[in-house]
Amino acid sequence: MGMATEANGDKKLRTDCSTVGEVIREERVYPSEEFRASSWISSREQYDEMYRRSVDDPDAFWEKEAEQFFWKTKWDNSDGKMHSENFDLRKGPITIEWFKGGKTNICYNALDRHVKAGKGDAIAMYWEGNELEQNKKLSYKEVLDNVCQLSNFLRSVGVKKGDLVAVYLPMLAELPIAMLACARIGAIHTVIFGGFSAEALAQRLLASGAKVLITTSGYRRGHKVIRMKQIVEEALSRLLEEEGHSIETCLTLANDSAVKRQDVPWTARRDVWWQDVVPRYPTVSHLEWLDAEDPLFLLYTSGSTGTPKGIVHTTGGYMVYTAATFKYTFDYHEGEVYWCTADCGWITGHSYLTYGPFLNAATVLVFEGIPTYPNPNRWWDVIDKYNVNIFYTAPTAVRSLMRFGDAPVKAHHLKSLRLLGSVGEPINTNAWRWLHEVVGNGRCPIVDTWWQTETGGFLITPLPGAWSLKPGSATLPFFGVQPAIIDPEGNELSGEATGALCLKGSWPGVCRTILGDHERYEMAYFGHFKGYYFSGDGCRRDEDGYYWLTGRVDDVINVSGHRIGTAEVESALVSYPMCAEAAVVGYDHQVKGQGIYAFVALKDNTRNFDEIRQALITTVREQIGTFAAPDKIHFAPSLPKTTSGKIVRRILRKIAAKELDDLGDISTLANPEVVDQIIALTGN
Ligand code: WTA
Repeated sequence: MGMATEANGDKKLRTDCSTVGEVIREERVYPSEEFRASSWISSREQYDEMYRRSVDDPDAFWEKEAEQFFWKTKWDNSDGKMHSENFDLRKGPITIEWFKGGKTNICYNALDRHVKAGKGDAIAMYWEGNELEQNKKLSYKEVLDNVCQLSNFLRSVGVKKGDLVAVYLPMLAELPIAMLACARIGAIHTVIFGGFSAEALAQRLLASGAKVLITTSGYRRGHKVIRMKQIVEEALSRLLEEEGHSIETCLTLANDSAVKRQDVPWTARRDVWWQDVVPRYPTVSHLEWLDAEDPLFLLYTSGSTGTPKGIVHTTGGYMVYTAATFKYTFDYHEGEVYWCTADCGWITGHSYLTYGPFLNAATVLVFEGIPTYPNPNRWWDVIDKYNVNIFYTAPTAVRSLMRFGDAPVKAHHLKSLRLLGSVGEPINTNAWRWLHEVVGNGRCPIVDTWWQTETGGFLITPLPGAWSLKPGSATLPFFGVQPAIIDPEGNELSGEATGALCLKGSWPGVCRTILGDHERYEMAYFGHFKGYYFSGDGCRRDEDGYYWLTGRVDDVINVSGHRIGTAEVESALVSYPMCAEAAVVGYDHQVKGQGIYAFVALKDNTRNFDEIRQALITTVREQIGTFAAPDKIHFAPSLPKTTSGKIVRRILRKIAAKELDDLGDISTLANPEVVDQIIALTGN
């Protein structure tokens, strides 16, 4: 798959964007006295004291958090240090280690530990399917039994510690079970989002080197039936024909209510039905003790340039960090029902649907469906049905439900709700207020959690009992996290400031490398500002030290909380034979947060634009997935370039935003005349 024309033509960071919009400085939302009094961190003073300790002596702080877990062997702190890091490329390669030498198992800590403590009958998971009548509940003991059986099966097909297992499943209960089963035996899971196409699946399978794949016959999403095994078949035959790479075992869950067994393509010997084999294995399975720095999972995410990056998270630090952030941010107390609407195909489903909650013995609701099926009451029905206490979702979903007005929400009592959460993109103040007032009845604080695939867990987030909220702000850093705001020249700014959001020093959950390309990892995160981890986000710190995220300053677009690299979409577009060149930028979109705006120059301008537009969209759907299809395609005679031939996206972004009076200096372009020509041709 070839890459598009040089991405990132204008490397300069944008720090002027403000997706959040208006800032109402006076508005503060305080937790109720009752909420505050029962919370883990119940005052700003308590936070300040803990924060100071976490920064002054991170080892002591995190060792204390780690002690609640079972460690087969304690970490090595013979030199008085439990963690080591080099965050500065000028001093050599980037290395980060936490709890090194410690031996543990995250599955043991998430399941066995609770069962041994007498919590085996507590509900680990409520599962609510796409259809109204589909649901089940699993106790901690039952999840453990399922995980053990699956891990025994995986062993029986030769999976060993360090092997990669790919998981391509919708939000069935079996998805978190599959992740935990891999973790139990030290296999590295790589979950591939179910919305990815056959091509994108094949690309990730090849890049990860996985030999075992777990999938399903198919599933329903709203009214649609998705024939997942059919997509897998296409991906696997392509892999074999084009790359000579074969998957040895494809474990397929028969989901007869969506796609029946007899209706799926099948390759004997390679393909096995889950129901035919997994239940035959014993419900005990021995554990693989892993070093804290052994890899736990691989998760692909998009960056500014190139193909998706295989982010590697390790065991010990990730375990301690996701558990602590879950407990304090969601202020989780035993017995509460927690619902995270994210998909396990993304990091939120890893850290805050699976590991963080299970490590805290939480009761998690897993929902397979969509908020509007069979009608826009569905989410609110589910909250009342399961008495959900903590509800964690994304601004894009909130905005899409706001369009149905208050009535569907008001028809429910939603009395169980205690806390709300938001993730994935900046939450605009309107959506914040609606969530707070209409859904939360003015009673529930909102934790607006800022973090990334690479950070493993929350970095900037409210601790809801400890301080007041400002709608649209992620507020303050979590323990051990040291944000820095940096100007385009690389200077760290103090006090009130706007710039690129970076981090000083590591935290236990940060990713350790990019699979097979440590140099790319170093350049992407540590190459921009020496001594700092660069997040790719812009940010403003206000007079109270609160952080306001303003969106990406690199070439990543955030569409409905899905992170999409412009380079990937461009690469798909230019693979269409009639496309000469393509450049993709984000633009403000009322529901999705950002939409995808593609500028395309064709080899032959006499063709039927509507037909080509459709063909281009189909190409992106086939190569990446429907969620990455451009919202607008704007045909252009050619694209504005620098004298060295790089596309100047800055100008295209302005055209997409219809800010034509503010195009900046175009005289230095190699082809300034194309700007007027592009403006003359309307987008669609
Ligand atoms: C964006 C998702 C503003 C941000 C957890 C980040 C946010 C990217 C927030 C990471 C938030 C996530 N406020 N922006 N609360 N949460 N983002 O890797 O641009 O899928 O860099 O991880 O989402 O997306 P990712």
